[in-house]
Amino acid sequence: RRELIVAIDGPSGVGKSTLSRRLAERLDYLNIDTGAMYRSVALAALRNGIRVDDAVGLESLCGSLEIDFRRCEGDLRVFLNGEDVSEPIRTPEVSLLTARVAAVAAVRQALVEQQRRLGAGGGVVLEGRDIGSVVFPDAEVKIFLQATTEERGRRRYLELRAKGHAVDLEQTIRDVAERDRADMNRSIAPLIRAEDAVLIDTTGLDVDAVFRRMFDLVMERR
Ligand code: C5P
Repeated sequence: RRELIVAIDGPSGVGKSTLSRRLAERLDYLNIDTGAMYRSVALAALRNGIRVDDAVGLESLCGSLEIDFRRCEGDLRVFLNGEDVSEPIRTPEVSLLTARVAAVAAVRQALVEQQRRLGAGGGVVLEGRDIGSVVFPDAEVKIFLQATTEERGRRRYLELRAKGHAVDLEQTIRDVAERDRADMNRSIAPLIRAEDAVLIDTTGLDVDAVFRRMFDLVMERR
């Protein structure tokens, strides 16, 4: 039985986190949420008053951060220098800042290096925007998830509301569209489907149906 590298990419709100977590659990693989890593850098920048246009400040900030993941009762928790930041990295404010921080070359370099180190041995499910295209172009399994902007905005809205955030549906859809624009148009590692990634359009599909397709794809290659 081979220990594979599974790369899952796609835009925000497409269900990557939920599906990656389930897949990793089922395979007993390590789950690396690279979006949470970029979010953690954004949160730290916000807390330390480092501006997005301060590339030097962001670079040294990255050097001082230790980000790791722990599985906790079926949940993937993110730790930043030992502090559980799973909740504070998900606020709308941090989300918007993250897309800008993620466009900074020094930040990407630092995080990609860390992601390669974490995934090098295989037995990992990595999710993000550039896993199949940049981080692990030789990953054995590459999946690109897609869904319409409205559907993704609606899912994100329900998710935020369930967590008690006061959010507006139209505003959430606009935020998702804005993040797509930033992620697709940045010059380094833009959100793009690797040529050899399998495309799954999740619009109108339920989580179980998408999960089965993803699981079958992994099994075919194992
Ligand atoms: O996946 P999530 O929505 O948590 O990602 C937050 C942001 O982090 C994205 O909007 C994107 O700007 C950035 N990101 C990235 N590259 C990745 C993962 C996330 O640029 N591999």
